[in-house]
Parts: sequence; structure tokens; C-alpha cells
Amino acid sequence: MPTIHLKDGTSFEAEHGQRLILALVDHEVDILHRCGGNAKCTTCRVVIHQGEPDRMTVAEYNKLAEKENLLGVVRLSCQIPCNSHMLVEPLMTLANSGLDDPGGRPADQITPEAEWRDAPLKS
Ligand code: FES
Repeated sequence: MPTIHLKDGTSFEAEHGQRLILALVDHEVDILHRCGGNAKCTTCRVVIHQGEPDRMTVAEYNKLAEKENLLGVVRLSCQIPCNSHMLVEPLMTLANSGLDDPGGRPADQITPEAEWRDAPLKS
């Protein structure tokens, strides 16, 4: 099973292939997911310091490319399956958002249905 390490030094085992956002949520990591895991809001963004997957969904690519300074810098945890070990830093938390809830629980499978492409090189 892949190990997800967090910047605070904690870690946990994720189910192989589980959506990263669900692995984080299920291990009580504070992270927003305001659009319910549909690659629409970017609040599930993370920096992956080690183990960043070299492919991404087309939906993730298009959403990150829409916004300034996100493509090649952050990844959307709702679009990433846990296939290997990663060192992850969530960026947008409920605690620092002023919001009442982090967002609806994402579906078990990546949504929208995943089409894959190469991830851009990290800048
Ligand atoms: S982009 Fe909204 S939860 Fe991932």
C-alpha cells in the first residue's frame, strides 16, 4: 500500500488506487474539497514534494491551466490516485478558510471520468 507522508511528519497507508483527496479526508487531514472532487474549484490543491505522479487527468490540466501560477506548481488531490508513496502538503484548509464545511464528499472514483495525459514538468 502506498504511504502518504505529510509535511508535518505524520504518515498513513492509503489504499492502492484510492483518490488522494479521500485518503486525506479519511485520515482526518484538514483540506478543502469544495466542488466535491470534480476538478472545478482547485481548493483540494496540494504540493507534492516527493513522488509526484507523472501523468494527470485532462480535467486537472485544464483547470490548473486556467489559473495563473498553478500549472506545474500544485496538483489537485481529487484527480490523483494513490499508486505510490508521496510527500504531500495540503494548502487550503477548513481551519484557515472561514468556511463552515470543507465540501461534499467526493465519489470513490475520479470524476469527471478520467482521461490521462502527461503532467507538465514542475516549475
Ligand atoms: S478541484 Fe474541487 S475538490 Fe478538487
